[in-house]
Amino acid sequence: MSVLPTSPWWRSGVVYQVYPRSFADSDGDGVGDLEGVRQHLDHLAWLGVDAVWLSPFYRSPMADFGYDVADFCDVDPLFGDLAAFDRLLADAHALGIRIVIDLVPNHTSDQHPWFQAARSSRSDPKRNWYVWKDGGGPHEPPNNWLGAFIDGGAAWTWDDTTEQWYLHEFLPQQPDLNWDEPEVVAAMEAVMRFWLDRGVDGFRIDVVHCIGRDPAFPDDVPPWSELPHCVSNEHPSTHGHIRGMRRLADGYDGDRVLIGETALPGTQWVAPYYGDGDELHLAFNFAATRAAWDASGWRQRIARIEELLDPREAWPSWVLSNHDMPRHRTRHGGGEARARAAAIILLTQRGTPFLYAGEELGLEDAVVPTERVVDPGGRDGCRAPLPWTSSPAHGWGDDPWLPFPPDASARSVEAQRADPTSVLHLYQRLLRARRASPALTEGGQEMLAAPDGVLAWRRVAPDGDQRTIVVNMGDDVATVEVAGIVQVASDGLGEDAPFSGQLAPDTAVLIR
Ligand code: GLC
Repeated sequence: MSVLPTSPWWRSGVVYQVYPRSFADSDGDGVGDLEGVRQHLDHLAWLGVDAVWLSPFYRSPMADFGYDVADFCDVDPLFGDLAAFDRLLADAHALGIRIVIDLVPNHTSDQHPWFQAARSSRSDPKRNWYVWKDGGGPHEPPNNWLGAFIDGGAAWTWDDTTEQWYLHEFLPQQPDLNWDEPEVVAAMEAVMRFWLDRGVDGFRIDVVHCIGRDPAFPDDVPPWSELPHCVSNEHPSTHGHIRGMRRLADGYDGDRVLIGETALPGTQWVAPYYGDGDELHLAFNFAATRAAWDASGWRQRIARIEELLDPREAWPSWVLSNHDMPRHRTRHGGGEARARAAAIILLTQRGTPFLYAGEELGLEDAVVPTERVVDPGGRDGCRAPLPWTSSPAHGWGDDPWLPFPPDASARSVEAQRADPTSVLHLYQRLLRARRASPALTEGGQEMLAAPDGVLAWRRVAPDGDQRTIVVNMGDDVATVEVAGIVQVASDGLGEDAPFSGQLAPDTAVLIR
């Protein structure tokens, strides 16, 4: 029998993203909270995930729903308190589930005491913790950089009191920290230690590619000047800062992980953030989220990832959905069949998969009426609350902060747990199959020849364990020459029987 790889856990494991506002509401106020997560750990243990990544739960005025942090070392009362966090961490660990938390090093809230001090006077000791420039006076920002989520607005805001511009690559309420200031580096290291000492298993580091900046602050040139600066911002100094974070994390026992949100345009941009094995353990690669439902496009992306990551011995990451973009079911046309087939792709690629809470229910984005829109970045749909029960309240307070996704009763955890043919059970079978197969967790990957519209690959572990995966992304039934027993089928049909060689459109099979 093959021995399961246990180390490092973040290579073989599956990470599940919880957006705390949307996951589970323990106190009935319509907003999810940490106690809600703790109370639903049984769902995650049943599903079989290895780790949870919690999006921010820190004190925040919520201009960007928690990504505008006013205190990096405390829990916002909306989500609970530090004791609630400690209970969640202890209970998750008792179930063998690791907890990774969000670190937001690029910016703070404008309400953070650091920024309040910095903006109080040009001579304040914290002035240089942020990025201040004169520009051409109050009407001419220092350069043409655009901020994100502000509809083509400048990445600079004029401060009337001190008569300078401050930089914010996101909202004006999210001033950017100045990582050229050693005190900022030290302060962020103290934040990391605060949480690592508490026992967290690592960090998902928000827009980590942004923290270094060209000291000349040059204008962005086309086509980048049309887009928010954060889309292309990269500076070599960032790598030094990440190496510093890595040294700090490596100083702790237990394989603490650094997962960077490198939200850059392609794999060639992302790859350098692994460094020489001395930067990020995992860098988010959003290539798959930009891929159409098209076999040849997927084939190219997979080849590119191999070509650019393998020489660095960098371990890929796979993401289909998160709190910043339409869910993959919605992106790929809304049908359940494709969402199921996509689950097989996500969980059988070589690399670490990230699930976004609710994708195991096959959720689509909520349709949010104009009067209920709350996010300036247009991301409310994918942040709809998770339906736990089939009752009208779905396990939430009377008035959840966003409307539920479509068909919430039928797609609730309760309804799907009771139905072995559900999407939820498909995810559970896949996670089990993955955990028990060295080929799927650690094995190499070889793309196989396949008819047009079909994507096929084989995973092989050094001990000989093998799996073959075939996905039909075309419009017609495909015939493929692969033999073996169907272990998991996206439509649930024919499992544990020999593969017929025929695959309907929008279906996928995992073959042993
Ligand atoms: C990241 C987060 C996103 C947030 C932004 C600014 O992209 O995922 O939700 O708005 O950073 O912090």
